[in-house]
Amino acid sequence: MEFWLERGFDLAMSEKALNENESTYNESTYTDAEARQILETLFLIEDFFRYGVRCEHKISLETSSSAIPSTWDRKAHLEALETQVSQCTACGLWQSRSQTVFGEGVLDPKVMVIGEGPGMEEDRQGLPFVGASGQLLDKMLAAIDLSRHNNCYIANIVKCRPPNNREPSPSECDACIGYLRAQIDILQPDFILCVGRIAAHSLLRLSDPISRLRGRSFDFQGIPVCVTFHPSALLRDTALKRPAWEDLKQFRSLMECRALTESRATKKVK
Ligand code: URA
Repeated sequence: MEFWLERGFDLAMSEKALNENESTYNESTYTDAEARQILETLFLIEDFFRYGVRCEHKISLETSSSAIPSTWDRKAHLEALETQVSQCTACGLWQSRSQTVFGEGVLDPKVMVIGEGPGMEEDRQGLPFVGASGQLLDKMLAAIDLSRHNNCYIANIVKCRPPNNREPSPSECDACIGYLRAQIDILQPDFILCVGRIAAHSLLRLSDPISRLRGRSFDFQGIPVCVTFHPSALLRDTALKRPAWEDLKQFRSLMECRALTESRATKKVK
């Protein structure tokens, strides 16, 4: 709902109206066929605004009051979005790409790691962080028990390689950021780790130097976000490895702290 309102979607369907629809359905005013039709239409509208393409949805009428958010098929949504990204020509970067680099990782990530944009090896393989800096990133994540194979999803601000590995320009970041926002929306990670200034600036709409972004926790749509150095900066300047390790330890503490608070809250409810 917040998504629609955010985009000025003023179909005569306020939060109250939606809730009324839910309670009306619970009182069985609608037949199953009508309820299914309503849900299909809502999904269609949502898909159109969110991704511009139609996605597959499993509609379960037994849980219709919570069906809208909870039956999202993350895989189908991601695949539809990836197809859209692969055809994107929104900025000039498409002209020199071999292929787009959408992202890689698990579908229920504890952490979403966000980098800047693909380099040469990523452009060749179609996967994020697979070159030298990717190998270092994997080691950094492993040091705090994270991995793209178990509990992380890795994506970039821009999905096409900037020529000669230059930084993506602000207009290229702006042209692409909607895809990343959609990925976050679909995957709903518990935490976000931005590696490098470009990722943090573009996602958080900030312009502070990285020295002022590290060691803090930001919020992106309710998701805690931390910032550390880009692994390629560590490869260039090994003196940054120690402060990067401090950032990772701090990020791990934040995750542990949240887990503890949540387990206490669950115990209290029981
Ligand atoms: N650097 C990035 O920021 N992202 C990649 O995928 C590879 C290198």
